[in-house]
Amino acid sequence: MSSNTERIDVRLSGKQLLESATFNKGNAFTETERAILGLQGLLPPAVETIELQAQRALQQLGQKTTDLERYIYLIQLYDTNETLFFRVVMSDPARFLPIVYDPTVGEACLKFGHIYRHPRGMYITIKDKGRVREVLSNWPEKDVRVICVSTGGRILGLGDLGANGMGIPIGKLQLYTACAAVPPHGLLPLLLDCGTNNRELLNDPLYLGLRQARPTDEEMTQFVDEFVQAVQETFPNCCIHFEDWRGTDALRFLARYRDKVSCFNDDIQGTGSVTVTGLLNAVHIKGEKMKDQRVLFFGAGSAGIGNALMTAAAMKLEGISDDEARNRIWMYDINGLLENSRIDLIPEQKMFAHPHAPSRDLVAVINSVKPTVLIGVSTVGKTFTRPVVEAMSRLNERPIIFALSNPTEKAECTPEEAYTWSNGKAIYAAGVQFPPVHYNGKTLLPGQANNFYIYPAIGLAIYATNPKRVTDEMFIEAAKATADEVTDQEREQGLLFPVQSNILEAEVRTAQRIVTLTFERNLARVDRPKDITSWLRGMLYKPEYKECTL
Ligand code: NAI
Repeated sequence: MSSNTERIDVRLSGKQLLESATFNKGNAFTETERAILGLQGLLPPAVETIELQAQRALQQLGQKTTDLERYIYLIQLYDTNETLFFRVVMSDPARFLPIVYDPTVGEACLKFGHIYRHPRGMYITIKDKGRVREVLSNWPEKDVRVICVSTGGRILGLGDLGANGMGIPIGKLQLYTACAAVPPHGLLPLLLDCGTNNRELLNDPLYLGLRQARPTDEEMTQFVDEFVQAVQETFPNCCIHFEDWRGTDALRFLARYRDKVSCFNDDIQGTGSVTVTGLLNAVHIKGEKMKDQRVLFFGAGSAGIGNALMTAAAMKLEGISDDEARNRIWMYDINGLLENSRIDLIPEQKMFAHPHAPSRDLVAVINSVKPTVLIGVSTVGKTFTRPVVEAMSRLNERPIIFALSNPTEKAECTPEEAYTWSNGKAIYAAGVQFPPVHYNGKTLLPGQANNFYIYPAIGLAIYATNPKRVTDEMFIEAAKATADEVTDQEREQGLLFPVQSNILEAEVRTAQRIVTLTFERNLARVDRPKDITSWLRGMLYKPEYKECTL
């Protein structure tokens, strides 16, 4: 039996208690609890520990043959016994993150209406315009600290998935808890359903969302404005985490609200931050500085722009000017190199469009711009071909090549390709986890530049400090702290990100640095404690049962 003797007044009994994912302990209810809480006769007689229950869950998971089946099993566990779900997931994050999050969550979103069992979080549709506050107030938990909200506009690299995108806010918030021990009860996954332009979904009888096309930008802005305002009024201590919106929406709404309310966009700022983590360690391996790199982004959507802005910010922190930093960053998109004669660019892209002849030839651009770093965020797999990697290798002793698009088949190149075509010289990272690669007698560890190293730590810092604003500086601090979690020996094997098996400790230490910065910048809306470490650690969620009373 768990040694935790903390008590909780559950205010529920009998079947209702067993149906509450928050309080249900299943067969771990003791004889005494069963007597007090009206559970006698409702459970098999054996009284079990959470360890034994976890063992059963692991055994049942072992019998599943695909990751999607494991995902469905785990979500069902989450819907019936949250504590046991987190116990299982937190027992082996390296094994379970790819199941509860990407790449499996991508497949789960594609099939969301088909594998659906139970509602989670909230759905607010554009038809609720004019009464969003009323709908929000239906959420039973009143102290909501973070809402993770998606429109399903651009799910991973899979495009517009409409209401199927709900799998993403659910998964993202599960990782707040699994990776940084953020207490789950103040976290609300939310799908802002504005319709979808995905014909296949609109024609699917099992699709669960609004069956209408997406609105105009103007209609959408009015709706999102109302939503953001309603959140301030309903949950005054809440930060809004924007996730997987269409690229242009992601950028314009972040710009619209970032200086007004507590919010961030993980696809822009989280992605930028984890890329900076990888870059800091990659330049460390080369014995160089960030400010001396020349970076070419292949893809100029929300992830590309977020990466470019955060990379520029990190370069500036090493003492170069805004202009110097921007001039070191180039971008390339579906229409070729971003250069100053292009008339199809949004302001965030124009910042990185420099004087150059138009070109739609990536190899020619590499030979002309001479990047030290090439970063793929294009959503298009296999675009870093052999000539591309060879061009980078001719220019650089150690070319830095990140292929960040996901899921797996969208990676611009695999680690094998990068290592083989560069004769083992590339410093490589991907957006998904690839297995170790054996090259020329050496074992190389391709790192996963996944935002899950960053946003749960940011989430914990937000949960703890309730900041007025969430700034880029917090994301840079997160990047530096995460980079510092990698040992010299790991860097020697090409690893640029912390090992996943120890992710919880790494993120809690990272959160501690973000919390300290938040207090230093006077952004916190709580009093500064004497000892930040013990204060923060005292808040951490533990997947243990409490003694239940009525
Ligand atoms: P997006 O759709 O906003 O942008 C895609 C960009 O790639 C656009 O600029 C587009 O013009 C460009 N592009 C498309 N086809 C191209 C081609 N054939 N050649 C050159 N450029 C091309 O998508 P977003 O949000 O920027 O995400 C991009 C990718 O990055 C996705 O696959 C996503 O999964 C991945 N991503 C990875 C993260 C990570 O590893 N940490 C985090 C966030 C996103």
